[in-house]
Amino acid sequence: MSETAALKPHMKLFARLREETKTNAQPSLPPRSEIPVDFYLDENWFARERAELFAKTPIIIGHVSMLERAGDHFAFAHLGKPLLVVRGHDDVVRVFYNVCRHRGMRLVTEEGVARRPSFVCPYHHWAYDLDGSLKNAPLPETFEGHDLSCRGLKPVRAEVRHGFIWALLDDDGSIDLDGFLGEINDDLEAFDIKSQVFFRQTTTTKKANWKLIVEAFQDGYHVTRLHQKTVGSMFMDARAAMDRVGVHLRAAVARADFAEILEAPPDQWNDRLHTSFAHFLFPNTIIVIHPDYVSHLGLYPQAIDETTVVHTCLIPKKPKTDKEKGHWERAFDIIENGVFQAEDFFVCENAQIGLASGANETLLLGAQEYGIALFHDILRDAMGPFQSGAR
Ligand code: FES
Ligand SMILES: [Fe+2]
Repeated sequence: MSETAALKPHMKLFARLREETKTNAQPSLPPRSEIPVDFYLDENWFARERAELFAKTPIIIGHVSMLERAGDHFAFAHLGKPLLVVRGHDDVVRVFYNVCRHRGMRLVTEEGVARRPSFVCPYHHWAYDLDGSLKNAPLPETFEGHDLSCRGLKPVRAEVRHGFIWALLDDDGSIDLDGFLGEINDDLEAFDIKSQVFFRQTTTTKKANWKLIVEAFQDGYHVTRLHQKTVGSMFMDARAAMDRVGVHLRAAVARADFAEILEAPPDQWNDRLHTSFAHFLFPNTIIVIHPDYVSHLGLYPQAIDETTVVHTCLIPKKPKTDKEKGHWERAFDIIENGVFQAEDFFVCENAQIGLASGANETLLLGAQEYGIALFHDILRDAMGPFQSGAR
């Protein structure tokens, strides 16, 4: 048996990256290496993306560790519909429309996680249990002839897997996460995402098309350059490998210590110290596996040139001391403010301005941007070839 035959799927990619590094080989140039700039500017196409990709796919809207106890909840509105995510007395995490069934008031209006024993609509005080059932409507005699028991909160299809809460906005659709995730299930299992706990979350809106942000994380070309003042020296230059896994992408970037295992057998390979994985989960999720914590980035398009980015930091266990907390605060500050905001998102916003200028007709991809070409293959399979419409 070869030394790689028994490896987990993501470690097979690790082995390929090791082989390419040892032989100083680059992946071949991507098949579709020029992307028309209209792909990021065409309003008709954008409307199709929202309808065909985002409304019909299970989308991650949070992590269960955000909701520690019964009654913990948060409102989520980044997908264009008001949602309410809540942990019930039975410990089940449910998703509802965040909409009162009387006259449509948004039930929870504050941001962030809060705890409540039940939900009371501010308008006329209809009260809902944590499982969504209507438990009280003042002056019920004024609704004579109406069955109020069927006016519980409207549920949204949702499922928890690997600790992530996935919701499907299509009321007629169904969620099949096994089929949807395929082999990516093995990766998320291997990284033990479900045992991680919520530490911090930031929500920012960037003036960039959502696809530019996906692409920034499937790019082995920029790491040591754009990030030279922060994490660049922690990585090897231009040593990244990507795999298409169904509609998802598995990506590994060689860290500086990768050089140590080029001649070592697989039992000395470490997926978190020798590489950083940055998976793309269709259509809008990036999961970065850092050496000791995880970044989840949810990208929620608001307009063709505007994307809400929710960055959730997941750590192995809740900090018990101020020292531990300080360690994670510093790690989060560097990755969120130093790397993502000041570097990755900074270039995405400026690329959006550059694309809109008309200076270029296409974007050009090299061999270390192979993952971006794979991303475009996935989009093409989902929506057909890009056709420019009126804009
Ligand atoms: S709209 Fe909520 S109680 Fe009337
Ligand atoms: Fe980056």
